[in-house]
Order: sequence, then structure tokens, then C-alpha cells
Amino acid sequence: MELQGARVWVVGATGVLGGALARGLVDAGARVAVAGRDPDRLAALAADLGGVPAQGLDVVDVESGRAAAREAAQALGGLDAVVVASGVVAFGPAADADDAVVEEVFAVNTLGPMSLVRSALPLLADGGAVVLLSAVVADAPTLHMAEYSASKAALSSWASVLRRELRPRRLAVLDVKPPHVETGLVDRALAGSPPKLPAGLDRHAVVDAVLAGMRTGAKEVVLDPRAGALVLR
Ligand SMILES: NC(=O)c1ccc[n+]([C@@H]2O[C@H](COP(=O)([O-])OP(=O)(O)OC[C@H]3O[C@@H](n4cnc5c(N)ncnc54)[C@H](OP(=O)(O)O)[C@@H]3O)[C@@H](O)[C@H]2O)c1
Repeated sequence: MELQGARVWVVGATGVLGGALARGLVDAGARVAVAGRDPDRLAALAADLGGVPAQGLDVVDVESGRAAAREAAQALGGLDAVVVASGVVAFGPAADADDAVVEEVFAVNTLGPMSLVRSALPLLADGGAVVLLSAVVADAPTLHMAEYSASKAALSSWASVLRRELRPRRLAVLDVKPPHVETGLVDRALAGSPPKLPAGLDRHAVVDAVLAGMRTGAKEVVLDPRAGALVLR
């Protein structure tokens, strides 16, 4: 898809990757609306991006997601793409996980994005794109990250079916599977402490790969372990 002039709704824009993606899209000439949970950071980001439309939402609250999607489409005069960059992580042995934490991980990482995309689909123009942030752990489930890995694998599996089902509308579904990125996400975990992690990727590498993937209609952004870099598939 052509990013210049594209109307793109970025959810989770109050986060580090979501904010960087919104900035990258604006710099690429897209018209962006941003959605997030923290009202102060959302207002500051919208102002920083030049006064773009902003919608408050909690991805766990289906109604707030639906209303936010409608507002974003109204503000931009329709949508060409939706980017969902919200997410949470939790650490610890699977056998010891707290039920409430497990529920929140799946609600935010899996059910919330699925519901947001369903809300956005009728508002999206044919030929556009759905962009979902899963993670490398979707393909490589990781010790002490069982729930996070499973929540991302479920989202990724759903995305792969959605992609096939949306073919008649020429809507691309880009599944972004980064390894550890230096955003501080792991220090905001719902539970537990992160295992020792290698140095993370720079957020700009993710932004560049996502924008390239949107432009070319790629299916996935994945890590090439030999090159240590993100590539399109
Ligand atoms: N950083 C990594 O190493 C890495 C690697 C692979 C995949 N990812 C994925 O990339 C995405 C972005 O992560 P990040 O590193 O940018 O982390 P981040 O800075 O912590 O951003 C997470 C975002 O999720 C939002 N969020 C959490 N719960 C929410 C809820 N109930 N309703 C609405 N928004 C909610 C936060 O909103 P508020 O701040 O407004 O509360 C924030 O905007 C996540 O899906 C993450 O799993 C990250």
C-alpha cells in the first residue's frame, strides 16, 4: 500500500513501539489517528504529532474499542490501515501463574486485538492493511514466558487465517514478530522478573521493517537469526 496520505489508526500508541510507529507513519506522509489507555501520554503524543486525532480506550473493554474505531474513522474520513501495538508481558513458571494475570495477558494480547480488528474491518478500505504486533515467542515459546508466548501464538494463528479470509478484499495482514526490543516492556511486567535477556533491537529497526512490510504487502516481520536483523516474509 501507498503510505503517503494513507489513513492509519495506531492503537497502543502510548507505548514505546506504538508511539514510534505513529511517528514513523506521520514522517512517511500518512494521516494518523492514535489510541491508547493513558490519557496524559495520549494527549502529549497527539500534540507532538501535530494535533492528530486521539481516542482513549482500554483494549479489554470491547465497547470502548468499538467506539474508538468509529471515532478514528470519522476523524480521518475512513481508514486504510490499523496497527495494534498494545500488549503486556508476565514472567514466571507456568505452574505458578496467577489466574488473574493469565486472564489479563490473554485479554490484552489476544482477545483485545482480535476484537479491535473486527471493529475496524468494516471501516477499512479494500487494499489496505491490518498490522498486529505478536512476537518472536509466537514461534519460539520461551521458558518462564508460557502465557505471553501462548497469547502471541494464538494471535499469530488467528492472523494467519484472517489473512487468507481477507484476500478477496486485498487487505494485507502483517504479523510483526520482533525479538526483545529496548522499550522497557519487560520492566512493566504484570508479574515476575524477566530472565537475563540479550541486548534488544533498536525500536527504529522495528519501525523501518513495519513500514516496509506495509508498503510491500508482506505477511510477516521476523528475525533472521544469522543476520541478527528483521526481515520480511
Ligand atoms: N519490547 C519488546 O521486546 C517486544 C518484543 C516483541 C513484541 N513486542 C510487542 O510489541 C507491542 C508493544 O510493546 P512495547 O515494547 O512498545 O511496550 P510498551 O511500551 O509497554 O507498550 C505497551 C502498550 O500497551 C498498552 N496497553 C496495555 N494494556 C492495555 C489495555 N488494557 N488497554 C489499552 N492499552 C493497553 C499500553 O498502554 P498505556 O501505556 O496507555 O497503559 C502501551 O501503550 C506489545 O504487543 C508487545 O508484546 C514487544
